[in-house]
Amino acid sequence: MSKPGETVQTRIRRMELKDIQRVREIDVASFALPWPERSYRFEILENPASHSYVIEVELDGDKPVIAGMIVMWFILDEAHIGTIAIDETYRRLGLGRLLLAESVLDAYQRGIRICYLEVRRSNQAAQGMYEQFGFQVAGIRPRYYKDNGEDALLMTLKPVQPERLEALRRRRTPANPGK
Ligand SMILES: CC(C)(COP(=O)(O)OP(=O)(O)OC[C@H]1O[C@@H](n2cnc3c(N)ncnc32)[C@H](O)[C@@H]1OP(=O)(O)O)[C@@H](O)C(=O)NCCC(=O)NCCS
Repeated sequence: MSKPGETVQTRIRRMELKDIQRVREIDVASFALPWPERSYRFEILENPASHSYVIEVELDGDKPVIAGMIVMWFILDEAHIGTIAIDETYRRLGLGRLLLAESVLDAYQRGIRICYLEVRRSNQAAQGMYEQFGFQVAGIRPRYYKDNGEDALLMTLKPVQPERLEALRRRRTPANPGK
């Protein structure tokens, strides 16, 4: 994506209705079981437990583009990460880690102390990312995914450690080159 000398600016902000078309594109390209448009509308408009963000990238002089999204649900001091994805064009640049680190830090500041999520047993890329955060496998949900009957691993981050999140957030990557 980025060429030498180019600056990649990133911005994480709340997901809005105007983002749904682009978010759906990323969802459809990333998952065998994408969410319908109405699910995103519900998260944005109606679900008070929902904390949904997009990450935008901006190359020198270009318009910002939404490169990924995350949806979390807060229940008391727990956050359930419902979905996270980065557009294939922008993967392996550190954007997924940055989005997750900022989102969970924000959650921590709002009183969240435990995070959990489900991930396909075969999804090594995502599991690698979660392990960097300290997520551990806490259980198996057998045949959780309806498309192919694959098991889900239930991974939990307990307790959320803000220092570790800060370090992950600050990690130098093409998406976070520093000033
Ligand atoms: C999982 C996902 C969000 C990671 O986003 P990303 O921006 O490419 O990830 P990053 O560049 O921030 O990488 C963070 C870490 O994830 C792991 N990782 C990411 N992609 C990987 C890959 N293809 N193979 C192995 N490890 C990978 C690595 O541990 C990486 O750390 P490193 O760069 O120090 O090696 C992205 O691959 C994606 O959108 N996948 C499809 C949707 C999905 O599976 N979402 C998770 C559902 S539970």
